[in-house]
Amino acid sequence: MLSIPSKLPQVGTTVFTTMSALASQYHAINLGQGFPDFPMNGKLVELVTDAMRHNYNQYAPMPGWMPLREVLCEKFESLYGATIHPDSEITITPGGTYALYTALTTILEPGDEVIVLEPAYDSYVPNIIVNGGVPVLVSLNDDFSIPWDRVGAAVSDRTKAIMINSPNNPTGSILSADDIEALRQLIRRQPMFIVSDEVYEHLVFDGKAHHSLLRYPDLMENAFVCFSFGKVYHCTGWKLGYCVAPKALTAAFRKIHQYNCFSCHTPSQVALAGFLKDKDQYLSLGAFFQEKRDFFFKGMEATRFVLKPSFGSYFACATYNRITDLPDAQFAGVLVKDHGVATIPVSAFYQDPSGHHLLRFCFGKKQETLEKAIEKLTRL
Ligand SMILES: Cc1ncc(COP(=O)(O)O)c(C=O)c1O
Repeated sequence: MLSIPSKLPQVGTTVFTTMSALASQYHAINLGQGFPDFPMNGKLVELVTDAMRHNYNQYAPMPGWMPLREVLCEKFESLYGATIHPDSEITITPGGTYALYTALTTILEPGDEVIVLEPAYDSYVPNIIVNGGVPVLVSLNDDFSIPWDRVGAAVSDRTKAIMINSPNNPTGSILSADDIEALRQLIRRQPMFIVSDEVYEHLVFDGKAHHSLLRYPDLMENAFVCFSFGKVYHCTGWKLGYCVAPKALTAAFRKIHQYNCFSCHTPSQVALAGFLKDKDQYLSLGAFFQEKRDFFFKGMEATRFVLKPSFGSYFACATYNRITDLPDAQFAGVLVKDHGVATIPVSAFYQDPSGHHLLRFCFGKKQETLEKAIEKLTRL
């Protein structure tokens, strides 16, 4: 048998898979992996069933089902004041991760550097490496703000792109208007692509605005903005998302996409095209998840964990130095096995996993799940 020279020799099974397996092995409450434990909207189930019954079961067009692209472009116009052309500037993809991967495949040549802010969603670095790129890591400040001076210092003449993620997984932080201005200054000094991960776009709390790159035509000139239906419409298992980019970048993106995936699941696209006509379906999401965040934060006050603020996404990170000084990966193991609650150690979002003492909780769960988890955590 031939040996396989791995393109990702450092990489094993992701912590999300490991923690979810431990959660089911120990019958623990799973506040680890980021997926809702409540059913998706029944209307969407009906719409997808109808689409199948009406025989929307063959290949969709390569860039995506046009009525879906059109309804998304109407949304960009009304939410972000962005005019995006459905025929040439948006591509439906099998999930947000695939959109990010394809964007990186589109732009990277061997040796190109990509700035990644850590902690970072775990697909970014392997996606860069597999495409021959070099990740250049910059740690966020302790309060999860972006150290723009250090980002500036990390730029070299090989810098091809920067990855940004707002609302952020795992930190729950969001970009501010000042961050956008700092990004603009950075790019003025040295032009580079921006790969913007906005899969939690509607999960922004406390009346704050989502600073989508789509709002900023100057930044959009060199940007790929990636979204996920799964994350916001409680259907992570559908693995459907999209990438918005200017015409020339979209054309290059589609060259890769057409030979890797070609087109995505047709009935889901038909269903979402109908579903998104009702704006309330996405306009109500912020309030829906804010209620969960508030419930979780209130309940956690009775524990010895200390949560850091979460302004968006369905994640919050907590310190636990009043309980133990174990590193986070070890403590997460103890929590799931001995106390019945699965979390994700934040070290999993760093290339160097040593020395971290933070756990990520997913509060995008049923109230009853959160209650049970809090009850267990209170005993620690
Ligand atoms: C920041 C971030 N980007 C992308 C994704 C993946 O989205 P999808 O499931 O649509 O690939 C996730 C999922 O957890 C995420 O947290």
